[in-house]
Amino acid sequence: MSKRVAVVTGGIGGLGTAICKALAQAGRTVVAVDLGDRAERTAAFRQEVEGHDIHFAAADVADHAACGELVRGIEARHGTLDILVNNAGITRDSTLRKMDRGQWDEVLDVNLGSAFNLCAHALEGMQARGFGRVVNISSVSGQTGNFGQANYAAAKAGLHGLTMSMAREVAAKGITVNSISPGYIETPMTAAMPAEVLSRITASIPARRMGQPDDIARAVVFLTDDAASYVTGANLAVNGGLFMSF
Ligand SMILES: NC(=O)c1ccc[n+]([C@@H]2O[C@H](COP(=O)([O-])OP(=O)(O)OC[C@H]3O[C@@H](n4cnc5c(N)ncnc54)[C@H](O)[C@@H]3O)[C@@H](O)[C@H]2O)c1
Repeated sequence: MSKRVAVVTGGIGGLGTAICKALAQAGRTVVAVDLGDRAERTAAFRQEVEGHDIHFAAADVADHAACGELVRGIEARHGTLDILVNNAGITRDSTLRKMDRGQWDEVLDVNLGSAFNLCAHALEGMQARGFGRVVNISSVSGQTGNFGQANYAAAKAGLHGLTMSMAREVAAKGITVNSISPGYIETPMTAAMPAEVLSRITASIPARRMGQPDDIARAVVFLTDDAASYVTGANLAVNGGLFMSF
């Protein structure tokens, strides 16, 4: 069997880089998808992953038509698209009273719309081949809500609705669809938060530490394994015990 091909959106970001490396180490051909205007970060990413079977493709995943071109291009170049990790995400935090329509739309388009855009185009090939693994990177904020994050929490909760619905639609075709809800992970996204907020949050985490990108990458490797064929429509919380539910 030829190598499975994995696409990781937001692939050059904090979690994305760790996910790309872990999937490559698990024997996948990996395509990291990210915005094309991140020249310095893209160059650093290429350097960091040198020697791994990891490629880079520029695309705005909030753009439906661009996602179609991206999927067709990857299938033409690499033969298949077997594993899709919808990881691209942004925050535009503000209390609802001060949030403008642009902040709402941007966060919904990138964090939730992108998963629809990619899945809509990638599913056809997965169904035809009878195999697929989709992982949507959600957030603990989508499970609990978060002050100043109505847009982000709505998008992340929406991702799990998409996960469960899609999982039902494609389970009989050999495709699994799951979400991962990270807690607070050390990446550029959380580095932008005020230090006192971070230390208050860390004190409230039962594990008493922030997560590392590898904590999430290991969960992605598990859910995208060929053998994980009976786990679908699930949400895997990776949060150090910050929020527990069943
Ligand atoms: N870091 C955390 O604590 C944490 C917690 C819960 C969930 N998450 C989620 O994990 C994912 C990764 O977060 P991160 O911490 O690595 O953030 P990050 O900012 O380091 O990475 C996000 C990446 O997405 C890319 N991106 C943004 N808009 C895009 C677009 N339109 N098209 C293509 N790429 C785009 C960015 O360029 C960036 O490389 C996000 O979905 C985030 O919401 C992160």
